[in-house]
Amino acid sequence: MKTYERLLQKKQIDALQEEAFSDTGREAALRRTLGPVELTAIGVGAIVGAGIFVLTGQAAATYAGPAIVLSFLLAFVACGFAGLCYAELASMIPISGSAYVYAYATLGEIVAWIIGWDLILEYFLGAATVAIGWSGYVVSFLGDFGINIPKYLCGPPFTYDTASHKWVVTGDVLNVPALFIVTAMSVVLLMGIRFSSWVNSMIVVLKVSILLIFIAAGVFFMNMSYLSPFIPPNTGEFGSFGWSGILRGAGVGFFAYIGFDTVSTAASEARNPQRDLPIGILGSLIICTVLYVSVSLVLTSVVRYTDLQVSAPIAVAVDAMRLHFLSPLVKIGAIAGLSSVILVLLMGQSRIFYSMSRDSLIPKGFSKINKKFNTPHVSTIITGLFGCVASSLLPIQIAGELVSIGTLLAFLIVCSGVLILRYTQPQRHRAFRAPGGIAVPIGGILFCLYLMFGLPFDTWMRLIVWLVIGLVIYFTYSVKRTRRATLQ
Ligand code: ALA
Repeated sequence: MKTYERLLQKKQIDALQEEAFSDTGREAALRRTLGPVELTAIGVGAIVGAGIFVLTGQAAATYAGPAIVLSFLLAFVACGFAGLCYAELASMIPISGSAYVYAYATLGEIVAWIIGWDLILEYFLGAATVAIGWSGYVVSFLGDFGINIPKYLCGPPFTYDTASHKWVVTGDVLNVPALFIVTAMSVVLLMGIRFSSWVNSMIVVLKVSILLIFIAAGVFFMNMSYLSPFIPPNTGEFGSFGWSGILRGAGVGFFAYIGFDTVSTAASEARNPQRDLPIGILGSLIICTVLYVSVSLVLTSVVRYTDLQVSAPIAVAVDAMRLHFLSPLVKIGAIAGLSSVILVLLMGQSRIFYSMSRDSLIPKGFSKINKKFNTPHVSTIITGLFGCVASSLLPIQIAGELVSIGTLLAFLIVCSGVLILRYTQPQRHRAFRAPGGIAVPIGGILFCLYLMFGLPFDTWMRLIVWLVIGLVIYFTYSVKRTRRATLQ
C-alpha cells in the first residue's frame, strides 16, 4: 500500500465492533466492570473541578457579572452539541480510544494520528493544569492552619508575560504539591479500574454534596439587588461585560465542562457500552449544568460580583453567609474535587495511548496490561511521569489555554465524524442517534470554531507547533510501524 493510501486508510466500523465484543480481541484484556452510574460518576468526576471552584468568581468579576449564568448556559449548548456527537459515535464504536478511534473510522489514519496527538493536550495537559490549580488551593488551605510551604517550592521556574510576550524567570524552583498529586493519582490508577472508579465515586459524592449544601444554604442569603443589572454594561472593551463579556465567560465555562468526553475512553471497561456510554456522557453534562447554573446564581447573589476576583470564590461566599464552619468543608471539597479531575483525565490519557499503541502508531509497550490489576500500567506510568514534569514546571495560564484549544479541535473532529457518517453510512444502526438531523454536528462544528477563534494568537501558534512536532513523529516513525504491522 502506498504511503498516501495509508494516510487515508480507515478502520472498518464492523471490525471495530467485533473487536470491542470479542473475548480475545484487543479490548478483552481490560475488565468490563463499569455500569451507567459509575460512567456518569466518571463524567462528573472529570468535569466538576477548577472551572467551578476556582475560575467562576474571576470570570464573573472580570467578564460577565451575574450573567456568568448565561455564559454557563452558552457553554452548555456548545458542549451539548459535542456531547450528543460523542454519544452517537461512542454507541457505534465502543472502543477505548474515543475521538482517536472515531477519527480512524471516519477520516483515516493521518487524522486519527493528529487527533490522538492533540488529545494529549486535552487529557494530559488538562490533568497538569488542574494539578497546578490543586496546588494553589492546597497551599492556601494549609496556610489557614499556619502551615506554610516555601513559595519557591510551589511554582514554575518560568512564566510567560502576556504583555511583553516574553518568558520571564520567576525565582521559583518547581511546583512540589502539583507533582505530589499527579503521582498519587497515578498510583490509584495503577491499582485497577475498579478501585479508581470507587475512589472517583467517593470524591464525586463529596464534591457534589458540598455544592448542594452551598446551594441550599445560599438560597436563604440571596440578595436580589446584587443581581441587578444582571448583564452589567460593557465598559467599551470587547469581553469586559455586556454581551461580549458573556461570550468571553463562555470560554471559561467551556473549560469547566471539559471532561465529559473522558467517559468514552472507558468504553472497553463498560459492561454495556452501547447503552451506557451515551447515558454517562449526557447524564454527567446535564447534572453539571444544573449544578453550575445554580452555584453561579447563588454565588453572584450572595457576594457582589465585583468582590469575586478571588481564587476560592465559593469559600468567600460561605464566609459572607457567616457560615464559617462550612468554609473549610468547601475547600476540602474543592481539593478532593480537583483530585478526581486529575485522576480521570490521567485515566483518559492512558487509554488513548493504549489504543494508539495497539494500532502500532506508538511503541508496543504502551499497550502492555498488568495481569494482576488489568491496567495498561506502562502507559499509566509514562503519563504520570510526564504529568509530574509538566505540572511542576509549566505556568497555569499557558497550560490552560492549550487544553482549551486542544479539546475544541478534538470536539470539532468528532462532530465532523458524525456528519460524515450520516452521509457515508446512513443505514448503519446507531444505538444512540443525536436528534435534529445534521443540525447537531453542524452546530457543534460552528460553536467549536467560534470558541477557538476567541483564543489568543499565541495559543494558536503553540497548537500549530505541537501538531507539526506530531506530524514529524508520524512521518519518521509511526507510518513505518503501521505499514510493517499491516504486512505481518
Ligand atoms: N472541567 C475540569 C475543571 O473544571 C477540567 O477542572
